[in-house]
Amino acid sequence: MSSKLFTSAKIGTMELSNRLVRSATQDPFGQPDGTACQAQIDLHADIAESGVPLIITAYTYVSPEGRATDIQVGFCNETHYESQKKVVEAVHAKGGRIALQINHAGQNVYFTPDLPDPTPLAPSGDKKAPNGLMTREITVEDMDRLCKDYVAAAVKGKELGFDAVQLHCAHGYLLNQFMDPNYNQREDEFGGSAENRFRFVRQILLALREALGADYPILVKVNSNCAGEADAAYAEDIVYFCREFEALGVDAIELSGFDWIAQGKQKNHNYYLERAKAVRAAVNIPIIFVGGVRTQEDIDAVLDAGMDFISLSRPFIAQPDLIEHLKAGEDAKCISCSKCFVLWEREGRRCVLHDKPEA
Ligand SMILES: Cc1cc2nc3c(=O)[nH]c(=O)nc-3n(C[C@H](O)[C@H](O)[C@H](O)COP(=O)(O)O)c2cc1C
Repeated sequence: MSSKLFTSAKIGTMELSNRLVRSATQDPFGQPDGTACQAQIDLHADIAESGVPLIITAYTYVSPEGRATDIQVGFCNETHYESQKKVVEAVHAKGGRIALQINHAGQNVYFTPDLPDPTPLAPSGDKKAPNGLMTREITVEDMDRLCKDYVAAAVKGKELGFDAVQLHCAHGYLLNQFMDPNYNQREDEFGGSAENRFRFVRQILLALREALGADYPILVKVNSNCAGEADAAYAEDIVYFCREFEALGVDAIELSGFDWIAQGKQKNHNYYLERAKAVRAAVNIPIIFVGGVRTQEDIDAVLDAGMDFISLSRPFIAQPDLIEHLKAGEDAKCISCSKCFVLWEREGRRCVLHDKPEA
């Protein structure tokens, strides 16, 4: 067992008792009205009670049209706020801390939200969204409105007792779409160079810091890579983005990537460690490493490379009491099959390693 894993460390003003984070996870699924089901609330409490010092919520949508799926929890109306308050209280009652992940799906909406105008918004227009509708290019006025939505969610989160906010800039959603040249084909000052592709994210981070105050922890989750040929240049872009995050007062960067599902199916581990090392050399703020950490050896490799925290998602689905197993020197049992995306709905169980519920 890594000697560093169970030592304390800080993210901004937050002192955390060890280096484990539960990465943002929709587990189990949210309800059609965008609230968390009781099983989700209970699971957060169990993970907190087990000794994981920081849990990041599932991605919550900050604007009704930014909802990615019908099982996604939201954070843009009173019903959502009441529901998430229960999540916060459940985690705090067990001595844990919780960060609110805020998101807008952009073009990656997988269903059609019930809205007068469900047109997906995206950095670039005329793209086919997963729900079959064509995107409309986001205007500067849209950006101002969306920025306000992100800020309103974060401020409300702080008011409800969330210990931190995490701005979701990863996994193909709106802010990642701006940063990733495969999505962003704009010809104005929001497209082209890395600086331009970062401009909208910068606007939001400046507004978040101003609204939340100097001491409130702001985290970001970002892709360390992108698909195809563009990835060669993106290797430099990600270092630039992370330096900018630090300059803008971000308290910790969670480094993920676009292809974590495929990487898991190929049975790879520590998917993004080489990219993370390049970022480590460039910034001083804490790095939270996520993606394919499964064995004690993986944990050592990540911490020995200078990463501050280890974030896991699917291993906590398989074993909510994972921390006990890690303490005992065991590896995580998760096989990264990602069937957890569909099992709850289809079979009422969350992981292939769990028993099927009795009929
Ligand atoms: C069922 C499920 C739901 C997820 N939901 C989110 C989410 O809401 N926000 C997010 O940033 N990542 C989400 N992820 C991705 C994880 O946070 C993490 O980045 C990814 O699973 C890789 O980590 P792992 O190898 O430890 O599972 C989800 C993953 C799974 C399996």
